[in-house]
Amino acid sequence: MNIAVVGTGYVGLVTGTCLAESGANVICVDIDEEKVAKMKSGIVPIYEPHLDVLFERNIKAGRLHFTTDLKEAVEPAELIFLALPTPPGEDGSADLSYVLQVAKDLGGMIEDYKVVIDKSTVPVGTADKVHETLANELDKRFDRDDQNRPEFDVVSNPEFLREGFAVDDFMKPDRVVVGTSSDRARKLMDELYKPFVRQGNPVIFMDEKSAELTKYAANAFLATKITFMNEVANVCERVGANVDKVRIGIGSDERIGKRFLFPGIGYGGSCFPKDVQALAKSSKEADYDFRILDAVMDINQTQKTALVPRIKKYFGDSLKGKKLAMWGLAFKPDTDDIREAPSLYIIDELTKAGAEVIAYDPEAMDNVRGQIGDKIHYANDQYEALNDADALVICTEWQIFRSPDFTAIKNKLKEPVIFDGRNLYSLDSMEEKGFYYTSIGRQT
Ligand code: UGA
Repeated sequence: MNIAVVGTGYVGLVTGTCLAESGANVICVDIDEEKVAKMKSGIVPIYEPHLDVLFERNIKAGRLHFTTDLKEAVEPAELIFLALPTPPGEDGSADLSYVLQVAKDLGGMIEDYKVVIDKSTVPVGTADKVHETLANELDKRFDRDDQNRPEFDVVSNPEFLREGFAVDDFMKPDRVVVGTSSDRARKLMDELYKPFVRQGNPVIFMDEKSAELTKYAANAFLATKITFMNEVANVCERVGANVDKVRIGIGSDERIGKRFLFPGIGYGGSCFPKDVQALAKSSKEADYDFRILDAVMDINQTQKTALVPRIKKYFGDSLKGKKLAMWGLAFKPDTDDIREAPSLYIIDELTKAGAEVIAYDPEAMDNVRGQIGDKIHYANDQYEALNDADALVICTEWQIFRSPDFTAIKNKLKEPVIFDGRNLYSLDSMEEKGFYYTSIGRQT
């Protein structure tokens, strides 16, 4: 199969690389010349476990190509993936200008049948808009009854990749959702995904609008699930219960499920915050007030800085002269992504109160440096961050923070104090080791 992937951000790059791995011929297009030059020379522009191996292998095998020329990518392709950014506009709704511009460009250049596939998270009705935009451009080149006028279909195929597990999620998806009302496109999509759903997980076909809403509903549901647990954790702290026990207690009911029940300092990243906001907004536009989502957004914002009042309770409101070590900056482990990361909100409040922060993160420090510069200090490793610090604040549950050398922590910190936003350690062991230890939803 010949495939074009327009946009080599996170989703585009993973999609293109994994499709090449299944044997397809893939050309990825991006307007960023520097990025394309890098990729051509074999450099993966994002951090994602296992992507580099597939990337290199498929470039070598001649199945994965890069270009800045849309036409070069589109001409041989039967399937054209749109993996373009849809950033939130000021009012929270998704900005479709990139997607619609490419639809317009396609209308000006296609010569034969194409399936245009929306991979970006886009509001309900976008497939129709893409269809209309492309058709309007074709109208300028061909009469509606012209034999030479190329046919095309627009398909909604939302992505459910998790950062850090994206390659695995693509290669072995729980399900693939395809929204299309065309039999011709359906057959091609079925063929495309066959190599990926061999374990019996389904390709679920539906109409375009349902597919578009499925993506928002999935992310909003998961964000709500996490937020619900954060609320339970907050109650636990007040009534003397332990959220770890409650989590296991409710998670063993299959209707609830064990996953995504971990309380912490809120969800972040590029997806949940944006998608919850966009679904709330588009529901309001459709004359429906999706009230639970307003509560989710509000609670999550408070939760992000839930450690700060605890730190102030311990040290007093002014943190002048206090040096705080921070482990973890990324919004979650196994990524360098810091979008909507709780760490940044915490840093903001701690430094405003006068504290000095020295941070360590295995992957995200360059990104943080790029965003906030020398507002904080950066350590070369997790233990260096602790030198002479008054306390340790944990913001991301990287594996290397899970079983640290507690003797070293105790020796390096001025006082053995840990504020843990990710519940990494057991209360008993921390008490035994002589730490003052605060976490989420468990009594100190
Ligand atoms: C999320 C979804 O999980 C993917 O299915 C979806 O494709 C993706 O968004 C997207 O729309 O592109 P991602 O943002 O990479 O993926 O990260 P998750 O692993 O889902 O974590 C999201 C946030 O929830 C993180 O901040 C994490 O710390 C938090 N979280 C997760 C919790 O606080 N508790 C949990 O139990 C699980």
